[in-house]
Amino acid sequence: MSPKLILLMLLIPYVSSSSQDTAYPPPYGEELIPLRRDVYSSGKIYDITHSVSPGTLSGVSDVGIGEYLTPFRSMKNGSDYNFSIIKLPAHSGTHVDAPGHFYENYFEAGFDVDSLDLQVLNGSRHRSYFFASPALLVDVPRDKNITAEVMESLNIPKGVRRVLFRTLNTDKQLMTQKRFDSSYVGFMKDGAQWLKDNTDIKLVGTDYLSVAAHDGLIPAHLVFLESREIILVEGLKLEDVEAGLYNVHCLPLRLLGAEGSPIRCILIK
Ligand SMILES: *[C@@H]1O[C@H](CO)[C@@H](O)[C@H](O)[C@H]1NC(C)=O
Ligand SMILES: *[C@@H]1O[C@H](CO)[C@@H](O)[C@H](O)[C@H]1NC(C)=O
Ligand SMILES: *[C@@H]1O[C@H](CO)[C@@H](O)[C@H](O)[C@H]1NC(C)=O
Ligand SMILES: *[C@@H]1O[C@H](CO)[C@@H](O)[C@H](O)[C@H]1NC(C)=O
Repeated sequence: MSPKLILLMLLIPYVSSSSQDTAYPPPYGEELIPLRRDVYSSGKIYDITHSVSPGTLSGVSDVGIGEYLTPFRSMKNGSDYNFSIIKLPAHSGTHVDAPGHFYENYFEAGFDVDSLDLQVLNGSRHRSYFFASPALLVDVPRDKNITAEVMESLNIPKGVRRVLFRTLNTDKQLMTQKRFDSSYVGFMKDGAQWLKDNTDIKLVGTDYLSVAAHDGLIPAHLVFLESREIILVEGLKLEDVEAGLYNVHCLPLRLLGAEGSPIRCILIK
């Protein structure tokens, strides 16, 4: 920033008295504190994405992803602007898995995150679309992993195509712990198979880094990803949202060749 511009910014508050309702740019002199929130629009929009920080878990190591921004140009160094390079594991924090994550032939054929069906990731009440239906946020009994028996007990109605499973992981706030915890709750192979055989669910969301429990890691993923119709969203932030039906919107980056991507997910009441 040029010295002239800085001088001008210093003078502005004395020239024009700041109006309270000007949201941007913020009036000079007020404390510059960005607003960060999970709920927007007076309780209608919920951000169910965990923010990314060096402490974000990814499963790559036992601890967080570390410094994921590297300065490429820095104002501190006399550059006119800041410009960072982002480097982070594809399965960091709240993220999506593509079929190529567990199937070599799918990976080679290009079933990456760019190939995922946006219609599945955009679920809302809409009478005129066959595929349109909202997402159901359900509570899983806190003392169990998601087995066939548990899936059956949840009584998810036929026709529901998108389900977010809230588990003990949310109560334990596992996503924000410093260390990876392999005792997290997730799907066992028979739970994944039951879902595939008995429901219409095409979007499966859970509240830790993997939809599959550590003990069922590979088999449950294989069951889910085999048909290439089920999309797995992992590491959702599901605290402070009531169970029930919501419009859901999840958008991964269009990373060609990537078998996973960070994703932004919101629920709309
Ligand atoms: C800024 O300058 C310092 C000192 O010359 C250098 O070590 C650092 O790499 C520079 N950083 C950037 C982002 O240019
Ligand atoms: C961005 O600019 C600020 C202010 O000059 C500086 O402190 C910071 O290191 C910069 N960050 C990056 C990533 O370049
Ligand atoms: C996608 O989401 C928007 C916003 O909720 C909704 O209006 C639209 O009907 C959805 N589209 C489909 C095909 O579900
Ligand atoms: C879920 O399974 C994991 C192993 O993957 C186990 O450590 C954990 O205790 C189980 N949780 C519950 C609530 O049964």
